[in-house]
Amino acid sequence: MRAHRIDSPADLDVVRESYDRVADNYADMVVTTGIGDIRRHPWLKASIDAFADTVGGLGPVLDVGCGPGTVTAYLAERGLDVSGVDLSPRMIENARRLHPRCRFDVASVTDLDLAEASLGGVLGWWSLFNLPRDVLPQVLALFARALKPGGHFITATHVGDEDLLRTEAYGGVPVRWTTHKWRPDQLVELIERAGLRPVAELRLPADEHSGPGLVVMAGKPG
Ligand SMILES: C[S@@+](CC[C@H](N)C(=O)[O-])C[C@H]1O[C@@H](n2cnc3c(N)ncnc32)[C@H](O)[C@@H]1O
Repeated sequence: MRAHRIDSPADLDVVRESYDRVADNYADMVVTTGIGDIRRHPWLKASIDAFADTVGGLGPVLDVGCGPGTVTAYLAERGLDVSGVDLSPRMIENARRLHPRCRFDVASVTDLDLAEASLGGVLGWWSLFNLPRDVLPQVLALFARALKPGGHFITATHVGDEDLLRTEAYGGVPVRWTTHKWRPDQLVELIERAGLRPVAELRLPADEHSGPGLVVMAGKPG
């Protein structure tokens, strides 16, 4: 029996279908424009580098909501024992095509069965904002339980108060998902309540591609 049951989001199927529809455009955008590639964004790259330096050698790392696997592959290149998992089968097809040497699986984070103290690191990199507000704390508790003492979690997400219904994305593709934006203090409090200790918070002002964002890294007390 799974040790940790998480409520399934009511819109999970619609969100999966939506990401399946945008997956090819999203992967193409990353490859051809560099948008969404941390290598083109010095502060996002610095955050992922700090995460990699911190968790390297601690054990397996899981990139949750990995999309086409850009960050998974970057961490693998840095020598981490990393794999990716994503809700969207089409995202994972793209990830496997682009990064054939990496390991990827299809699953919702809400269905993951992660053993206690089994991970050195876990990422929710621009991938947890579709979770309903009452589900995110359950997912954070899953991550906290799955991390080894000294292991770390890193997340990037959209900042704000609104629940924004998206009806098109990535080149006008019709989608249906809600972007639950978080105020930095709210998100940090949730992470702390899950039992993790924040070690860094990075605020990103809106730019030509995206609204304001936030990166938080937090560790499991050793
Ligand atoms: C904006 S993309 C980010 C992808 C990747 N992390 C990156 O930075 O390029 C959001 C990803 O989160 C995934 N996602 C959304 N809800 C999810 C869930 N419940 N479980 C796993 N992945 C999910 C989507 O399928 C999509 O690939």
